[in-house]
Amino acid sequence: MIDNPKLLQLKEELLQQTKTSDSPQTILRSDKLRQAMADIRNIDPAKRGEYGKQLNQLKQELSSVAEARQAELEQVDLKPIDVTAPMDINCQVPQLLPSSEGSRHPITQEIEKISQIFERMGYVVEESREIDDQYHMFESLNFPKDHPARDDYDTFMTEDVDKNGDRLIAPAHTSTMQNRILRKYIDNLERGEPIASIVPDRVFRNEDLDARHEHTFYQVEGVYVAKGVNVGNLISTLQEFLQEYYGQKLDVRVNPFYFPFTEPSFEFALSCPFCAGDNSNCKVCSGEGWVELLGCGLINPNVLKSAGIDPSQYSGFAFGCGIDRLIMMKYQIEDIRYLESAKLDFLKQF
Ligand code: PHE
Repeated sequence: MIDNPKLLQLKEELLQQTKTSDSPQTILRSDKLRQAMADIRNIDPAKRGEYGKQLNQLKQELSSVAEARQAELEQVDLKPIDVTAPMDINCQVPQLLPSSEGSRHPITQEIEKISQIFERMGYVVEESREIDDQYHMFESLNFPKDHPARDDYDTFMTEDVDKNGDRLIAPAHTSTMQNRILRKYIDNLERGEPIASIVPDRVFRNEDLDARHEHTFYQVEGVYVAKGVNVGNLISTLQEFLQEYYGQKLDVRVNPFYFPFTEPSFEFALSCPFCAGDNSNCKVCSGEGWVELLGCGLINPNVLKSAGIDPSQYSGFAFGCGIDRLIMMKYQIEDIRYLESAKLDFLKQF
């Protein structure tokens, strides 16, 4: 039962809005609700569980009211058809299936689970974009012009250019959002609060396609900045997230790596959740017992500086993890291309 006074008030306000809204689903993504989720980190740890439970209940109630409202909006009186009338008269109402007959895509479902785990850890969720500029893809991430590492990302370029004459691009990783997140939440640091945000969104790479490579896929970026953040914080955050996501204890392995925007940088592997190295035929890890999952590291001081943050006072970590990979491992999906394929036989299993 919801008895937290703040949540009760929020519930009344949002329910009222949902019942009269023309796009009720947008209320489920309202800033107030996000704020209520972000507030979790300010709550006394002993009361956090109860607050979280009540917040979830509130979301469920809102979501069923939003669904009912949506169904109400979709009920339109069809006029009898005059077959000789111009096209637009007979086609006033788009003949779409009502949303109650469809289901959500597995990627959407899993992004929601991933977001909820991070929200419980005090992170806010941000969205990326599908066209970006080279400043966010490279310069702000400490890739100087003509740096060879720019070629490691098989970036799709458009013919259009930005105000500097550089081609616009389809972002090849969610790290394009690091600079924006740091700038957006920089005031948190003044207040003694961390910057803590994730970005689960689409990315694009000009790759040859096969069962493990797709030109369009999803990543979740994580950015955390505060005073005295260290590699231990990074590893334990990722381990905690992955254990929650897979619902079991997992070992992790960290190897040195190189990214221009983190220093030190690591490649992060997970003990195989299916065979833990006991099955030499395991489809998920090919019997190696480990699965390389993501890149991460401590944010390079130049990246902090380009967002106006003083690296002598603050430090942070960032990570970027392939969401399709996570999902494929969770459900033992053998071909990444199924996820973007609109194959109904596949999608109906979720
Ligand atoms: N953006 C990197 C990639 O896509 C991953 C990464 C993110 C590495 C954040 C370090 C920090 O390969």
